[in-house]
Amino acid sequence: MEGINKQVEKRREAVKRISSAKKITALTGAGISVACGIMPFRGRGGLWEKHDPIVADINYFLEHPAKSWAVLKEIQEVVEKALPNVAHFSLARMEDMGFLSSIITQNVDGLHQEAGNKVVIEFHGNTRRMICLECKALYPSVEISLDSLPPFCPVCRGLLKPDAVFFGESIPTAALLQAHVDAQQCEVMLVIGTSGLVEPAAGLPFLAQKNGACIIEINPEETVLTDSVTDIFLEGKAEEILPLLVDELSAINEG
Ligand code: OAD
Repeated sequence: MEGINKQVEKRREAVKRISSAKKITALTGAGISVACGIMPFRGRGGLWEKHDPIVADINYFLEHPAKSWAVLKEIQEVVEKALPNVAHFSLARMEDMGFLSSIITQNVDGLHQEAGNKVVIEFHGNTRRMICLECKALYPSVEISLDSLPPFCPVCRGLLKPDAVFFGESIPTAALLQAHVDAQQCEVMLVIGTSGLVEPAAGLPFLAQKNGACIIEINPEETVLTDSVTDIFLEGKAEEILPLLVDELSAINEG
């Protein structure tokens, strides 16, 4: 752990870069929702420690929908009950103050929108929606009973799947294109709570840096990005660091 002075100095530098940039994009991952009780995917206490990630593989899902759904149901129930935490609200405040142009999120929990952010690119979809694999109808997940698994479309009886990107599926085209544009155009990219291990999202900070952006990473642990692409590493939890940045940015806004 770094000394407190070093941390303060790095945070000041981050605030300076953010307040002088015209376009700032955030790339968020599971870490930003940990304080909401949603477990991350990797590391201690992660989902993939408890369950085989094959349940989120599209081919496995199509062959064994009931087995996949048994695990997915657990995730659905946690996500549906979750509320945004102070880290999500801090990003909403940054957008309001003009210090955040967009969020590219790998999370499927919809919590950035719940917190009030208006420009959110859902890179991996959103489990608060379900899609019928036959007729492509979309349903709010809360309207679909999971008492009997797998769930089927109320209209055509096709198999329902969370409207999230599974392993083996492509990123939705519009989200991929917009994320590339934002990564190329931003002057600062905030990389928050992601292990940086899953492509193509993990490539976005590299694309941003290639186009001149300053990369500010917020994570309690170093990641594969820290030594390769990060310019300023703010070590700590998103729910602790982001409110501090917002306080300093508010002071600049009012001053
Ligand atoms: P991971 O679970 O791989 O990584 C979570 C990151 O959050 C780690 O680097 C942690 O150190 C960090 N972290 C933990 N608590 C934190 C906190 N309070 N504040 C900030 N950071 C914290 O999650 P992702 O990188 O999001 O894909 O995973 C990427 C993709 O892999 C997911 O979107 C998912 C998964 O397979 C799909 O669903 C398609």
